[in-house]
This record gives sequence, structure tokens and C-alpha cells, in this order.
Amino acid sequence: MKKILIAGGSGFIGKMLSEYFLSKGFDVAILSREKRDEKNIFSWDPQKEEMDENAFRGISCIINLSGASISGKRWTRKRKQEIVNSRMQSTDFLYEKLRTEKHEVDTFISASGVGYYGSHKDEWLDETSLPSYDFLSTCCRYWEESASKVSSLGIRVVIFRLGIVLSLRGGALPEFALPVKLFAGSPLGSGKQFISWIHHADLCSLFLKAAEDKNMHEIYNAVSPEPVTNRVFVKTLAQTLKRPMFLPPVPSFVLNLILGEMASAVTQGQRVSCKKNIEAGFKYQFPQMNEALKNIYAQNS
Ligand SMILES: NC(=O)c1ccc[n+]([C@@H]2O[C@H](COP(=O)([O-])OP(=O)(O)OC[C@H]3O[C@@H](n4cnc5c(N)ncnc54)[C@H](OP(=O)(O)O)[C@@H]3O)[C@@H](O)[C@H]2O)c1
Repeated sequence: MKKILIAGGSGFIGKMLSEYFLSKGFDVAILSREKRDEKNIFSWDPQKEEMDENAFRGISCIINLSGASISGKRWTRKRKQEIVNSRMQSTDFLYEKLRTEKHEVDTFISASGVGYYGSHKDEWLDETSLPSYDFLSTCCRYWEESASKVSSLGIRVVIFRLGIVLSLRGGALPEFALPVKLFAGSPLGSGKQFISWIHHADLCSLFLKAAEDKNMHEIYNAVSPEPVTNRVFVKTLAQTLKRPMFLPPVPSFVLNLILGEMASAVTQGQRVSCKKNIEAGFKYQFPQMNEALKNIYAQNS
């Protein structure tokens, strides 16, 4: 039986992946900064460079999701430092442990985000498109550089630039849906910015493919084939939830006042291509936004 270790496995995506990989017959362990007396939960502290000595035992694949959340708190200078450092320290520490300890790890899958590309209008972006130099882009760039170092150890590295993961268990969807449910749904900013998204089931299948397919290497965009504008997204959400959408867009300056620089995460966007996944043989279960949302809310009813 294959055993995977998920760093940051206690979070939104980590929990989904743990359940999914278990359901596929894998043994799953997680690395968490919180000490818990549970089998298969190993503690670590990337900042202090400490890790349970048994964490790598029997592991053939590591999935790296660790990092301080980009939402929830205003992006002060200190918070931004924390967001970047938490990702680099965790990834650099995993690299160092893999370099210096005995292990059987042959695959390292790391998260990044489509924020790598920065803000764009409607041009399609693929894995070869250049990064931007705003905060999220810089954060993703540093994070990917840390993860890529692992390949110098002869370990296969796959980095996923994640779009917004759609699920009711966490992430951005419940936050987008709340005003819509309260009859106050409206586009954000210009409404023309693209949202690159992926249904949680497709995300899990994509991680499984990366864990098993030895031909997958380097960077892939974890997004669906049909990114939509913010306006279309909110409209489709309103239709799915059987709510009207009659309010004008919330202007960017209002969002900037409320959220500060973090507003850029919703007022700016990018239209990201998944062509490379399709060429690698990946088949999407939910390529279209309306079907994805219908499925997610049907599961919940
Ligand atoms: N959700 C999305 O739609 C999305 C989109 C693009 C990119 N991503 C990226 O994918 C990764 C996983 O996303 P998620 O939504 O599952 O995030 P999440 O729920 O915030 O989980 C991240 C995990 O990282 C660990 N963590 C938090 N602060 C940390 C710190 N200072 N140092 C080290 N570890 C820390 C936590 O685990 P412990 O407390 O147990 O250590 C936490 O469970 C994140 O890095 C996120 O930026 C997510």
C-alpha cells in the first residue's frame, strides 16, 4: 500500500485530499504544527526546524500545502512576511529533511496558486506565461523556487498552481455565496476579471494523477477548462441558489477600503489554461461552472 504524507493536511484542501486518498486505498499521514495524540498525525515546527522523527517512515509521496492563510487578516507588512515565510520555511525544511535523512520518497507535490500570473484581462495564460511582481505573484514565485529544489535530490516534483477550489467545506465559495443567499449578491469590482476555478472532485483526481503518473513533472495549472468572469460567476451562483441578482457591482475602491491590498485577490483575476492537464490525459468530471455548482449544492441538499 502506498503511503502519502500531507504537510498542512489539517486545512481545507488537506482534509479533502486525506479522505480522498484513503478512499483510493492509500495510507495517509499528516504533518501538523498542532501536537495531537493520533496515529498518522505527526507534529512539526518548520520555524524551529523540528519534526517527529517517524514522519517519513514508509512514505513514498509528500503533498505540501502548508502556509499561513492569505484571507482572513489584512495584508499588513508583517502579515505579508508571515504568508511568504510560512511557505518558504515549510518547503525549505522539507527539502533539508529529504536531503539529510534516510527515506523512500520518490514524489513531491507542492501547491502554488494562479496568483503567480498576477492581474490580467482576458488573455489565456499557460504554465509558460511570465509571473507578475505583485505580492501574491512574488509569494508564489518564491514558494515554487523552494519546491523545485527538491528535484535536485532525484525526487519527481509536481507543482500545482491552484485556482479557486469550489467546495462548501471551505475556501472562497461559502464566502461568495453568503451575500447571494441573503439576496445581496453582486459582482465585485469591474466584474470583468476572470476567475479560474476547479471543482473539489477534479482537484482530488488531479492530485491522484500526479501521485501516480510518473510522466508528470514540474508545473501544472489546477484549474477547470472554463474560467469565467466574476460577473458570470456570481450570476451562475445566483441561478444555482435560485436568487435574483439585481444589485450593481461593488466598486473596487469600496473593497479596497474594507480589505486593503487583499482586495486585489477579488478585484483582479486571470484566465488560466488547463490544456497541459488535458494533454497529460486528465479527464475533468466538472468542466463547466453551472454543472460544478449544481453538483456541489445538490450534495448539500
Ligand atoms: N483553497 C484554495 O482555493 C486555494 C487556492 C490557491 C492556492 N491555495 C493554496 O493551497 C494551500 C492549501 O490551501 P487550504 O485552502 O487548504 O489552506 P488552509 O485551510 O489555510 O490550510 C493550510 C494549512 O497550512 C498550515 N499552516 C497554517 N499556517 C502555517 C504557518 N504559519 N506555517 C506552516 N504551516 C501553516 C495549517 O496546518 P497546521 O495548523 O495543522 O500546521 C493549515 O491547515 C495553501 O497554501 C493555499 O495558499 C489554496
